[in-house]
Amino acid sequence: MERRYSMNRFLEAMKRVAIEIEIAIKSEDLGYLDSSNSSGEEQLKLDVKSDKIIEDELSKLSDIKAVVSEEKDSILELNGQGRYIVCYDPLDGSSLIDANLSVGTIFGIYDGELRGESIIASGYIVYGPRLELVFTTREGRPQLYRLIGDEFKYIKSLTLNERGKLNSSGATQRYWKPHHKRLIEELFQEGYRLRYSGGMVPDLHHILIKGGGLFSYPATSDNINGKLRQLFEVIPFALIFERANGEAIDENCYRLLELTPEDIHDRSSCFFGSKYEIDRVRVAYGR
Ligand code: AHG
Repeated sequence: MERRYSMNRFLEAMKRVAIEIEIAIKSEDLGYLDSSNSSGEEQLKLDVKSDKIIEDELSKLSDIKAVVSEEKDSILELNGQGRYIVCYDPLDGSSLIDANLSVGTIFGIYDGELRGESIIASGYIVYGPRLELVFTTREGRPQLYRLIGDEFKYIKSLTLNERGKLNSSGATQRYWKPHHKRLIEELFQEGYRLRYSGGMVPDLHHILIKGGGLFSYPATSDNINGKLRQLFEVIPFALIFERANGEAIDENCYRLLELTPEDIHDRSSCFFGSKYEIDRVRVAYGR
């Protein structure tokens, strides 16, 4: 009961965050700062502003002990009496804003050690033609909310079919491993269609909304652990896909929900999809 109350308060805070970041995207200067984030990437002013919006909203929730952000080097303690740690990527894909493509916020709530098995809820916000938010706990299906007027309305829960039609494959193709290239080509031969915007949130949202498909960000010869970060991106989406009747694994075919990062900014190869496509990954990767 207590946890449910905390999650409801958290969800309401993330709805406020969504509206605040949406306003910032539509009205703020997009320039770069002189600083770079802990992954060595240049920081857009909007990344930093979004990070601050989330930090400020979560600091008002007494049960949030600390936050870990893609934009911060280390854990930030918020409330000494709190219980949960929230890990988030405040504005994923922000470099796409120049081209007016959709971007997103990803978040996961951890109870205990920072690893997959401790995640108790997760979600994401999509800043697109519509403002949408998806939230799930370890029970039930992911719930889709949409801003209509000045209020988020519940739209539906998200469930994947046994297989889909979309093939969303990331990373630089010249660095793909041969078996990965084969897998992607075979899916196209089976009739899958390419859908890849370069934003993890809209690309995964697309698969969830259309009921299936494969999103892959493999380990490559230039990025041996892939690109996407475990705590802020990979594990939160793994919970969403599993709760939506899909699967989420790494290149060793372990569940992404079993990952244990050594460092808060650790990355992992990742595959998200419906059951058929993830079985195809298992075959391609020899597991
Ligand atoms: P960034 O926030 O630096 O724009 O990165 C976006 C992430 C993620 O959202 C997306 O899935 C992936 O990077 C795309 O990377 P590739 O262009 O290498 O496929």
